[in-house]
Amino acid sequence: MALSKVSLALVGLLSLVDAFGPGARSIVHSTILQRSGQLNAEYDYVIVGGGTAGLTVADRLTESGQYSVLVLELGVFQNGSSVTTAGMGYLGLLDPAIQLQFPSVPQPELNGRVADVRVGVMLGGSSGMNGMQVHRGQKEDYDRWASYFPGNKSKWNWDNILPYFKKAWHFHPPNSDVAAENNITYDAQYWGTTSNIHASWPTEMWPFQKTELAAFREIPGVGSPPDSGAGLPGAFWYPASVDPNVWLRSFARPGHWDGIEAARSNYHTLTGHRVLKINFSNGKRATGVSFVSANTTSAANPLTVTARKEVILAAGTIHTPKILQASGVGPQALLQSASIPVVVDLPGVGANFQDHPFQVGPSIQLTNFPFFPDPNQFFFNNTFIAESQAEFDANRTGPLTIASGNAAAFLSMPVIAPTAFADIATRYEAQDAAAYLPPGTDNDVVRGYNAQKKALAKAMRSRGAAFYNFFVRGTSNEPGPILLHPLSRGTVTIDPTDPYFALPRVDYRALTNPADGDLLVEFTRFTRRVFATTSLSSYNPVELAPGANVTSPADIIAELRGRMVPSSFHPVGTAAMMPKNLGGVVDEELRVYGVKDLSVVDASVMPDLPGAYTQQTVYAIAEKAADLIKARA
Ligand SMILES: Cc1cc2nc3c(=O)[nH]c(=O)nc-3n(C[C@H](O)[C@H](O)[C@H](O)COP(=O)(O)OP(=O)(O)OC[C@H]3O[C@@H](n4cnc5c(N)ncnc54)[C@H](O)[C@@H]3O)c2cc1C
Ligand SMILES: *[C@@H]1O[C@H](CO)[C@@H](O)[C@H](O)[C@H]1NC(C)=O
Ligand SMILES: *[C@@H]1O[C@H](CO)[C@@H](O)[C@H](O)[C@H]1NC(C)=O
Ligand SMILES: *[C@@H]1O[C@H](CO)[C@@H](O)[C@H](O)[C@H]1NC(C)=O
Ligand SMILES: *[C@@H]1O[C@H](CO)[C@@H](O)[C@H](O)[C@H]1NC(C)=O
Ligand SMILES: *[C@@H]1O[C@H](CO)[C@@H](O)[C@H](O)[C@H]1NC(C)=O
Ligand SMILES: *[C@@H]1O[C@H](CO)[C@@H](O)[C@H](O)[C@H]1NC(C)=O
Ligand SMILES: *[C@@H]1O[C@H](CO)[C@@H](O)[C@H](O)[C@H]1NC(C)=O
Ligand SMILES: *[C@@H]1O[C@H](CO)[C@@H](O)[C@H](O)[C@H]1NC(C)=O
Repeated sequence: MALSKVSLALVGLLSLVDAFGPGARSIVHSTILQRSGQLNAEYDYVIVGGGTAGLTVADRLTESGQYSVLVLELGVFQNGSSVTTAGMGYLGLLDPAIQLQFPSVPQPELNGRVADVRVGVMLGGSSGMNGMQVHRGQKEDYDRWASYFPGNKSKWNWDNILPYFKKAWHFHPPNSDVAAENNITYDAQYWGTTSNIHASWPTEMWPFQKTELAAFREIPGVGSPPDSGAGLPGAFWYPASVDPNVWLRSFARPGHWDGIEAARSNYHTLTGHRVLKINFSNGKRATGVSFVSANTTSAANPLTVTARKEVILAAGTIHTPKILQASGVGPQALLQSASIPVVVDLPGVGANFQDHPFQVGPSIQLTNFPFFPDPNQFFFNNTFIAESQAEFDANRTGPLTIASGNAAAFLSMPVIAPTAFADIATRYEAQDAAAYLPPGTDNDVVRGYNAQKKALAKAMRSRGAAFYNFFVRGTSNEPGPILLHPLSRGTVTIDPTDPYFALPRVDYRALTNPADGDLLVEFTRFTRRVFATTSLSSYNPVELAPGANVTSPADIIAELRGRMVPSSFHPVGTAAMMPKNLGGVVDEELRVYGVKDLSVVDASVMPDLPGAYTQQTVYAIAEKAADLIKARA
């Protein structure tokens, strides 16, 4: 593997070469898991997408034995390389057989470049190939979601989602030597111990990580929360989604499906099949779905299955809006352009699209680096790899127990830009909400963005909301920061010429809101400050990107246009849980507006991004969704 891939693969992302490579790779499979022969004609629940959220909900809905469930999954059952932790588990990212990778539409504000859209396509979905980092957002993120609903008594504020973080994750403390050696603090009260989805720690950390983390803590205002799950910003350690009993990736398939589906006669799974659309009765009740084998490219004569109680969409942020639109639930003008009969004109479907923009690195080179080893050894040092493998085989210890990494800074704007944050927030808040949304955006969606704008401006002024994320990898050449709350909003829409089979049109609309540029300029200034003014300065940092000569805001932004990628593979927001008059797609019960017996349970329901990567929150949403669905069964 080329060295240029190193830093990116290690942050759970891909190389520049891949990120902007041409053409789409779409791998389809058809493995039918027929535990008990044929599918039934009817189930209580039909779940579309056997991914992170889909398998979690399916497990919970089938556990009582009272309800029958069918999961329809496009991808395959696979148990290959991405399953091992072995320091390289994130290399599952590189396996084309378990994912869909294709280019976004060109991004004018990124010099016309296209970005890489990448989602897991297998039983287990994106949890089967992600970077395995486990963190949740800040309390304020979930309270912000609550604030979008009138009365501010949402079921989704921090207090109400915390029990589901506990239900969703089985926490294993770090071993005491590792904790002491690295100054890891944790507090098990923020976690549970009953889930089969595991959050655990490697048996060692890269030696430079603790130095780097301590350096961030030298900056005034940078906190050290009692636990990564405490819902507070700071510089801290966090666990990985690894099952420490077997040192394998812990993801939705082993956690919520292996040994479960086969033991429950009320639970069926069909992989290798693509759901095309939801069937609606005249009364706009979702009655079932139409689907075809993944190898089929014709919508003629689809298979169908009936849902007695509900159809549950869990196809992820990229595919859930596509399926809704193809079924006639979405913006009327788009549906008409594709000759799709309108079931409900719901303009929020596919709007409000967000992901975490990332400054691909390396951005800083420490030219005096007296630490060994660092994660890059995996890419060029065969002796190190062999020794690590031998240690892992003999003792289940060592570098191969590390997933993609366990430490980062998640920092608020008042901490990273104490003299600039207030003006940035004021300027942002004064924007006309429609000004930077796509031309012709529906009024409801504009109103919803206005509500987000007020809430995010408040977050910018708060010490409780992290905007800046720097992944502390423990190497001498770290990539640049990630923007946790981008203010630009994109779209995901069907291709009107082929709504069922063509790839959706994914437009990040990166950097379309100039306030993102304001934030990113401060990110660059702050990152420089960290390396120049803390103990990190003793390792002779040399700035590789944007480059020490790049100082004016305009030059910083110009450099980012050529380097930034708009995605860290954490897409959300395309079926937002917001009031309908704010452009929402689902209510607080996760039911789609305007139709009956249709809900969405995946990452697409997040109204805006949490100040964290998304898997921990997806599992918590799914756990809560299952309770909501059972309560109305
Ligand atoms: C490369 C990568 C790295 C990441 N790293 C991290 C990380 O380190 N930490 C973190 O917290 N988060 C990370 N994430 C994000 C996290 O994994 C996702 O937010 C989460 O898994 C999304 O869950 P989901 O249920 O919404 O969708 P998914 O898990 O993607 O599930 C959707 C499922 O629906 C299926 N599907 C789609 N269309 C159809 C159809 N028409 N018919 C039938 N089935 C269909 C798909 O095949 C898939 O299995 C990463 C994601 C990626 C892609
Ligand atoms: C679908 O296509 C894949 C890849 O070409 C092939 O391996 C598989 O056998 C096909 N499945 C069916 C059911 O045709
Ligand atoms: C998946 O692979 C791992 C080891 O590679 C093995 O321990 C596990 O049993 C496998 N699971 C299934 C369901 O095949
Ligand atoms: C809503 O609730 C949050 C958290 O409880 C609180 O901070 C906020 O001020 C409330 N907003 C309104 C409009 O009442
Ligand atoms: C060790 O952790 C504690 C609590 O998280 C923190 O206050 C302290 O600053 C840390 N020490 C170093 C050297 O990072
Ligand atoms: C669903 O719709 C398809 C295509 O419109 C139709 O062929 C099928 O009969 C419908 N199935 C059910 C169960 O309503
Ligand atoms: C490679 O790894 C070995 C064993 O861990 C170590 O002794 C050696 O210094 C490393 N070589 C380089 C070039 O880093
Ligand atoms: C395994 O652990 C033992 C005890 O600590 C140690 O002596 C041995 O060298 C280790 N084996 C490898 C291959 O690292
Ligand atoms: C900074 O220096 C690099 C390398 O010499 C050059 O390519 C770039 O144009 C310079 N940028 C500015 C803003 O001066």
